[in-house]
Amino acid sequence: MAIQWFPGHMYSTQKAITERVKDIDVVIELLDARLPGSSANPMLAELTAGRPTLKVLNKQDLADPARTVLWLAHYNALPATRAIGLDASQTTPAQQLVKACHELSPNRGGMAKPMRVLICGIPNVGKSTLINTLTGGRKAKTGDEAGITKLEQRITLADDFYLWDTPGMLWPRIIVPKSGYNLAASGAVGRNAFDEEEVALELLNYLKTHYAAGVAARFKLVELDAETMASMKDESLLDTIGRKRGALLGKGKVNLQKAAEIVMHEFRAGNLGRVTLETPDEFALWLADGQRADAERAAKKAARKQKGKPKPETAPEQDA
Ligand code: G4P
Repeated sequence: MAIQWFPGHMYSTQKAITERVKDIDVVIELLDARLPGSSANPMLAELTAGRPTLKVLNKQDLADPARTVLWLAHYNALPATRAIGLDASQTTPAQQLVKACHELSPNRGGMAKPMRVLICGIPNVGKSTLINTLTGGRKAKTGDEAGITKLEQRITLADDFYLWDTPGMLWPRIIVPKSGYNLAASGAVGRNAFDEEEVALELLNYLKTHYAAGVAARFKLVELDAETMASMKDESLLDTIGRKRGALLGKGKVNLQKAAEIVMHEFRAGNLGRVTLETPDEFALWLADGQRADAERAAKKAARKQKGKPKPETAPEQDA
């Protein structure tokens, strides 16, 4: 699925991060705990020049706790990286953040060498909510439109601890198709940039295998046991859900667009149970496939370009 969405302000965000990072000790990357791999910006390591990174798996209250444990272990095993889980119910997350940053950059601290931290994340990951909590609601705004945070701001967490906020940022090319679907399902991408029916079908395809009980309970699909649901076509499942919820067009036809919106709304609100759409192992496979396909595309493009080029002129042969 192609996501046609990369607003111009994302280029300025990239630029702002590149500028700011020169004076930064630790980067906090806010990830969506329901899709930690897909919500990690592949350009960030490059933009932040390999600074120590704290991965915060946010919205952990919506995510599958067993899978959050897997993801935390995965990130904690990476060099110069720490990972913690967080959610909006934590009213004093500052202590946890400050402690983890000091572990990553033990030489910073005190008035002479204050800790300087940059916080980044995709749109809608919960950055404004976290910053509201940290500042006691003094500055940041929240909202459900992807990318509402526009201006960089500095937050003082302690006399010797500064946090710079950045606007939500996606990257220009999403090469892992599954990540495109998962980002769209999570609400990270503006709704005009993707086909909701396609995204809902892909979401149901995953849910019916891994989280059938939650889907059956929410949509009152009492007649479907897990095995039957897993063997159903995604289209039939969407149709059944639409019918259950009365999303009809007339003459008994289901309004699939409306059904898709219902599925995504219920997923985003956590009404299908605590769901995580990817494990570290699954994501590693998707990433490898995406990178391979991308390399093949690049090679084909280069070959086409080469073919289209006029042959280099050869010098006329000289008589001996
Ligand atoms: P952003 O700045 O990164 O773009 O995200 P923002 O804080 O605006 O949060 C996006 C949505 O995610 C908000 O919901 C917010 O309440 C919700 N959210 C943030 N953190 C958490 C969390 O840890 N757990 C859960 N369950 N939700 C979280 P909204 O529906 O868009 O707005 P509202 O209904 O809260 O006003």
